[in-house]
Amino acid sequence: MAKTVKDLELKGKKVLIRVDFNVPVKDGKITNDNRIVAALPTIKYVIEQGGRVILFSHLGRVKTEEDKLTKTLKPIADRLAELLDKSVNFVPATRGEVLENAIADMKEGEVLLFENTRFEKGETKNDPELGKYWASLGDVYINDAFGTAHRAHASNVGIAGNLESAAGYLLEKEIKFIGGAVSNPERPLIAILGGAKVSDKIGVIENLIKKADKILVGGGMMFTFLKALGKNIGKSLVEEDKIELAKNLLEKAGDKIVLPVDTVAAKEFKNDTEFRTISVDEIAEDEMGLDIGEATIKLFAKELAGAKTVVWNGPMGVFEMENFAKGTIGVCESIANLEGATTIIGGGDSAAAAMDLGYADKFTHISTGGGASLEYLEGKVLPGIDCLK
Ligand code: 3PG
Repeated sequence: MAKTVKDLELKGKKVLIRVDFNVPVKDGKITNDNRIVAALPTIKYVIEQGGRVILFSHLGRVKTEEDKLTKTLKPIADRLAELLDKSVNFVPATRGEVLENAIADMKEGEVLLFENTRFEKGETKNDPELGKYWASLGDVYINDAFGTAHRAHASNVGIAGNLESAAGYLLEKEIKFIGGAVSNPERPLIAILGGAKVSDKIGVIENLIKKADKILVGGGMMFTFLKALGKNIGKSLVEEDKIELAKNLLEKAGDKIVLPVDTVAAKEFKNDTEFRTISVDEIAEDEMGLDIGEATIKLFAKELAGAKTVVWNGPMGVFEMENFAKGTIGVCESIANLEGATTIIGGGDSAAAAMDLGYADKFTHISTGGGASLEYLEGKVLPGIDCLK
């Protein structure tokens, strides 16, 4: 296990903390600050210990000079200051004298955030010079950016190779829950996987076939599996080139994979249209399944009963449309009401759904990772974690 913040001497030190403040921003306003909130325990701890807090993060994907206008971290500095109830010195630079002087002027317990790391071309290439330069700005490095742990960039792997490094509280928590679920779970371990495409989840399914006791499959990808079983799925979403693979996965899984028994079907892909709940054997040629049905919600609840560890990734239907959100809501409620189980949401849409529905505090852990949590569930080594060893 890597060192954690608790192992570091922080008093008076310039503490570089890589966070993942890649939050949704619309018209200069943050629409979900969960990732900022999740980073607070580490930041507050370093402040309390008398460290000088130097924060940095990427925001979005920066491809052109225009991108730089909308992808500034300034709104994030403002929100962070509100959450900390403390001033945050935002420095609109990623290197150079202005940044270096601002750091040199910092007093113990002060907080500085510098500009989007991806404004530097070398960031995503893990340019060794850049990693070395950023490392030279501090005395010690903490990585708390779990959301970016599947990337080997200058601001995580690059710096860690040049400075005493440790995992922050958020990273530690993600390793404990997501890492724990796939390496040493309390059993039974039940995984619930949804989302539109099988292709996004192949690695996760393959890994979980080895690790989980049951895998409950919903969402758009269920229809590729149903077609693999020879069912008529009408106009439902399907990945024709993944049908063979779905067959193989079903064979490998034996009775581990549990598929929906009913679906909410409509003729058009929109909320305001006629729909009906039918058995998965009754989908008409001109219909498409847009959610799991009542019977499946009950079936999944039955499978979940007695689970000791539950991992959920991916919505059960088109939850953005009210008429097709009941499956996702139902599964979310079933997991939230489990007693004595460690319940984990592996980031992305399912995390957003649980938070929007007001169930956030009913789960043991809601991951801040999207791609990172998927790759972790696939059993991959994440460079942002590995570099701390
Ligand atoms: C994420 O949101 O998944 C992370 O912040 C990583 O962002 P990226 O996919 O642009 O590297």
